[in-house]
Amino acid sequence: MYYSDEIVEEVREKNDIVGVISGYVTLKKKGSNHWGCCPFHNEKTPSFAVSENKQMYHCFGCGESGNVYTFLMKYENYSFPEAVKALADRAGVNLPEVEYTEEQKRRANRRQRLLDLNKDAATYFYYQLRKNPHGEVGLNYLRKRQLTDETMKKFGLGFAGINGGELVAYLHQKGYRDEEIRDAGLATHSEKRGLSCQFWNRVMFPIQDINHRVIGFGGRVMGDGEPKYLNSPETDIFDKRRNLYGLNYARTARAGNMILCEGYMDVIAMHQAGFTQAVASLGTAFTPEQAHLLHRYTDQVLLAYDSDGAGVKAALRAIGILREEGLTAKVINMRPHKDPDEFMKALGKEAFQERIDQAENSFFYEIRMMESNFQMQDPEEKTKFHREIAKKLCSFEEEVERENYLQAIAEKYYIGVENLRKLVISYAGSAATVKPIERPKSGIQSKDKVPEGGKRAQKLLITWIADYPQIYDKIKPYITAEDFTEDLYRQVAERMFAAIGKGKFQAADVINTFEDEKQQKEAAELFYEVLPVMETSQEKERALQDVLYAVKKNSYEHFKQQQDQRDIEAVSKVFAAKKALMELSKLHISIE
Ligand code: UTP
Ligand code: MN
Repeated sequence: MYYSDEIVEEVREKNDIVGVISGYVTLKKKGSNHWGCCPFHNEKTPSFAVSENKQMYHCFGCGESGNVYTFLMKYENYSFPEAVKALADRAGVNLPEVEYTEEQKRRANRRQRLLDLNKDAATYFYYQLRKNPHGEVGLNYLRKRQLTDETMKKFGLGFAGINGGELVAYLHQKGYRDEEIRDAGLATHSEKRGLSCQFWNRVMFPIQDINHRVIGFGGRVMGDGEPKYLNSPETDIFDKRRNLYGLNYARTARAGNMILCEGYMDVIAMHQAGFTQAVASLGTAFTPEQAHLLHRYTDQVLLAYDSDGAGVKAALRAIGILREEGLTAKVINMRPHKDPDEFMKALGKEAFQERIDQAENSFFYEIRMMESNFQMQDPEEKTKFHREIAKKLCSFEEEVERENYLQAIAEKYYIGVENLRKLVISYAGSAATVKPIERPKSGIQSKDKVPEGGKRAQKLLITWIADYPQIYDKIKPYITAEDFTEDLYRQVAERMFAAIGKGKFQAADVINTFEDEKQQKEAAELFYEVLPVMETSQEKERALQDVLYAVKKNSYEHFKQQQDQRDIEAVSKVFAAKKALMELSKLHISIE
């Protein structure tokens, strides 16, 4: 259900970025940019630049970049269609009605019914806790667990009494049918007994999606019944793999990280203590979908899992999933306490903050956990441990990173660096490790990465052309989109060159052609590489020539490396690149 490119473009044009962002951030004009303090990280001196020309923003402190849409998506946590809608309203543009089929309408209505029903049920539980004398058990329980009234209200906590029939009667009176109550997961149906309620004698935790809509419930039994926590089954509106408890609040925490816990009570205790970036998966193991969801809001996830054996196992699993998603993971040490809830009660929030600051790098954590499987006094076992370390080190694709870890681990476990390195080399490429090494990183980078130098030159060139589109005509004979050897850069270059060709290039538009938020962000950054300070036009000319040469050199090397001697086309591509390279070294392009 996306809007057409024309509409997206029209809405963007009618919302000047400086005007829009001024509504959120105080901006001051200096040079060609408007400057302010970045809303996406903490800072006291402005490094957040908004460009009227490019209709983009960029923070030189934290690297956030984008156009009006990405700004609202990031700041307000809007989805793309929501951002379009908000800006269309702001500019008085009428968005076309999106046409739904009958089937789509029916499904939307049904979903809405279930959401309404859940909301009514949550309201019912909420009042049971406070107004019904039977709810006192629940209220006392929550108070004993040191939750304030404010916290209970924030999370909409409630109580399901002994008599489940009352909930059904209440929902009937609200006009819901038996099947709907069943489809919402609040009751099961049997021939013999009719409708029986899913939840009774439990404190109720409504589970909300990121827009605060109730999509399911978790209920904790009073006393020692089994199961301790009972959750709604999956329904048309409740997908456990794609939601996280507490994310509706955590997404606006802007703490620079997200804290992943195991339980409802952990999340609530953390929020009450001010750590509003805490979330938990929903009575199931953490999923790749949830990792992806978290990635929308952060690059770093701190694990606050239980300190028992099951918690360690779950943490190790989660680390793998987070890494696969391209997120940095760290592990918070909760000892001597079992979980964040107990930690907070025993030691308080300052102590917890210290634990956050000391959170352990997930790789070190993995190695430390592995260590406990070996008897280190036994040389045989110790050797095995070192071998396992070496295998694990092979999973770092980037040499610098691998080497840094290698040195750190060698020091930590008193292994000779040279010995460990030899061991790593012996495993690199062996069957045991080949998979992690060859696996492309998730995200947009291709696996045959060009060296950093080439990457930076490519970024610089894109910024150059965005700043001075007139030079494109002059460099066209020498440089094409193919010279950008990073996948994403090439796509940006292709789209930028096409737009310049048509005479309507706007950096801000190129960004919208990417659907993934990470890609949008990375594409936006390409337009904001810091160009060297250049006073005279000779200096500019010189700088541009260097960049052109570096980009071409890189792609020449790249083609050469890849070429198959039997492939005539590939061979001629290398020759052409070489020729262009020679010509570029003599080229003079004046920049007015
Ligand atoms: P825990 O058993 O660690 O719960 O389960 P907890 O948060 O410490 O519970 P309290 O403090 O005794 O109240 C962690 C999470 O695992 C899921 C729930 O989501 C719970 O919050 N769980 C646990 C279930 O789904 N069912 C269970 O029977 C137990
Ligand atoms: Mn607990």
